[in-house]
This record gives sequence, structure tokens and C-alpha cells, in this order.
Amino acid sequence: MDSESTCSKLSTVRTARRKGRGFFIDAIVLVGGKGTRLRPLTLTAPKPMLPTAGVPFLMHQLAQARAAGVDHVVLATSYRAETFEAYFGDGSILGLELEYATESQPMGTGGGIRNVAGQLRGGPADPVLIFNGDVLSGHDIAAQLELHAKNDAAVTLYLTKVDDPRAFGCVPIDAASHVTGFLEKTPDPITNLINAGCYVFRREVIDAMPAGRPLSVERETFPQLLRDGATVMGYVDSAYWLDLGTPQAFIQGSCDLVRGIAPSPAVPGPTGEALVLAGAQVAASATVVGGTCIGARATVGDGAVVDGSVVFDKAVIEAGAHVRDSVIGKGAHIGEGVVLQGVVIGDGAHIGAGNELLEGVRVWPHAILAPGSVRFSSDE
Ligand code: GDD
Ligand code: MG
Repeated sequence: MDSESTCSKLSTVRTARRKGRGFFIDAIVLVGGKGTRLRPLTLTAPKPMLPTAGVPFLMHQLAQARAAGVDHVVLATSYRAETFEAYFGDGSILGLELEYATESQPMGTGGGIRNVAGQLRGGPADPVLIFNGDVLSGHDIAAQLELHAKNDAAVTLYLTKVDDPRAFGCVPIDAASHVTGFLEKTPDPITNLINAGCYVFRREVIDAMPAGRPLSVERETFPQLLRDGATVMGYVDSAYWLDLGTPQAFIQGSCDLVRGIAPSPAVPGPTGEALVLAGAQVAASATVVGGTCIGARATVGDGAVVDGSVVFDKAVIEAGAHVRDSVIGKGAHIGEGVVLQGVVIGDGAHIGAGNELLEGVRVWPHAILAPGSVRFSSDE
């Protein structure tokens, strides 16, 4: 299909959806962060482009947005901006109209949203869905939009309950689901309800945000709206939720997707104990379990065990190696009998035979460990 007919098809779909629903849905995905906690993986790719259950993480979110009826998405990029457009193009592979906005300097979550204002297509009162670009969730977006519309809210936040809210935005609500406070990363949380990183904004609220300077929605915009007496609603949903900002969470998210515990319309294959991508070779005597994903053209040798891990494309795991709860970067080489547990191996690194690396070790891209040179073991 040529691009003109693709465009006219998309615009027909858009008009039809808008007529049925009465409003247009723009979405913004915030993907400008540096993903510092996921280094060294994020030295070569931004966090939302890291392969998660076989596709860039962002694919799961875009598919979720598409399924919720979103018409048009703008990616708010900054760090390694070019990699997004190179992969997703105009979004037609996803049935979405996809555009890009780039901050030359990261402008923060609020600055990133404000920077996109000119590209939004809905009217002043129409809803704009905003996603943090590192959250895997199965929440009911339609129900969040409905709560927003019913209350004619300025902003409606998706909230979820966690055991330890200190690393998140703590968000108390009243009996009628009105948000009564917003405390970003407080050491003394007053509720277990947290900001789950998906908002509905009235479009005119975005237009009114200050432009041209760094801004945090969590530290500035939300507290200011509350001080101004704006209607800010909290939509509480207990569906699957995970922020993939740390290596352990990234691994867990990928494994949960592979096993079908986390919902996504974009997992490229049936769910189960392992997902082995095209061209990968796994020896018959190897064990690959725990939701592990083996990347395209990767190899796993005789008797090797790979459990609850993410193995990127073209990585090599030699015979007898044991890899658990770990990420193996693109093209990395894990030698014979190596033991890895809870570690991150950067792209192209070479771990010589017999090394043992445990809990929290991170090996930088293209580093070389000579055979048997390292044993970081908890019993020493
Ligand atoms: N465009 C743009 N520009 N995006 C940014 C920028 C920026 O300057 N800074 C961060 N982002 C994006 C990140 O790429 C990520 O997708 C999202 O904004 C949130 O940033 P994180 O760095 O992942 O924040 P967090 O996880 O510590 O906290 C946020 O998410 C929690 C839920 O997962 C906050 O929103 C918390 O309140 C929330 O609880
Ligand atoms: Mg995060």
C-alpha cells in the first residue's frame, strides 16, 4: 500500500472512531529518561527500546494504547532520540499514527509533555493519555478515561497499591476518589497508593503548563493543580503493574510477559516457560526455563541452564554454563561452565570459562574477563 492510501485509511479510521466516541484520543509516551539504573544496558539503547519478551519494551505499551482506542501517539524523546523513529517509523505497523518530539536537553516529565502540546490534535476539552515509558500494566484504560470524563476532571491519575511506596509518587485520595495530595518519593508515605505512571490530562491543562523550561509533573504540576483546587481524580486498579526501571524489575517484567503473567498484545509467540526467537539455537540437553527469552540468533550449548533471564540477540552461552536472573547483552559471550546469578552483562562482553559472578555485578560492554579470573561468591 502506498503512503497516500495508508494516510487516507488512517484518517477514515480516525473519523469513524471519533464519531462513535465523541472525542479524539491523543497519547504521549515519555521516553526521554537516561535509564541510569539500567546501565550498562542503557549505554547503547534507551530503556524503552530494550528487548523485553522479544520486542522493544515500548511495543507492549503502544499495543496496549492501540487496543484502548488511542488514535495518535507522540513519543516525547530526548536521550538517544533517533533510535525510536528508526524502529517504529510512522507507526503504521501498529495501526497508529506515530509522531516524535525531541528535547535537545531533557526537560523533565512536565517539560516533555509541554513540548508536545503543539502536536496534539484533540480539542481543548479532549483527553490526552500520558504514559511513563517504562511501566508494564494491565490496567483498564477505558475505565480510567470514563472516570475522567464523568468528573470533568483536569487530570486523572492511575493509582496502584504497593508494599513499599517510598520509591514512587505517594497519592492519597478521599472516599469519592479525589486526589488530596502528591508526595514524590517521600521517606514517610501516608498511603500505599502510588502514582502508577499513566495519566489522563484535559488538553487545555497541558497548554497552560509553563513552556521552555524544565518541569516535573510530580514535583510541580500535580501539587500546583491541587493547590489551585482543580479536579484531580485517582483511578485505582489492582491489575498487573511493574516499573521496569531496575535490572531485577526488567528481568521480572520480561519473564512475566513470556509466561503470560503480564498481559500484552505484542508478545511474539505463545506464552510458556521460554520464548526462543527466530534463528536461535538451543542444544537438546540445555534447560531454558522460568520465562527466559533467548534472542534471535543466540546460542545455548550442551547442558547449559538458563533460568528466569533475558538473553539478547546473538549472545552465546557455552556448554555447562548456569545463568539465573540475569541479562546477557547483545552478542555477549558466556564461556563454558560460567556461573551467573543476578548480574547484567553488557553488549559484546566476553566472560571467559569458569568465572562466577553473583548478585548485582554489572559488566560493561565489550569488557573481557579472562578464564577463571573472577569469583564473586556470597560464601567468601
Ligand atoms: N521526554 C522526557 N524528558 N521523558 C523523561 C524525562 C525527560 O526529561 N525524564 C524522565 N522521562 C521519562 C522516563 O523515560 C520514564 O519513561 C518516565 O519519564 C518516568 O521517569 P523515571 O525516571 O522512570 O521515573 P521514576 O520511575 O523514578 O518515577 C516515576 O514513575 C513512577 C511509577 O513508575 C514518577 O512518575 C513516580 O511518581 C511514579 O510513581
Ligand atoms: Mg520508572
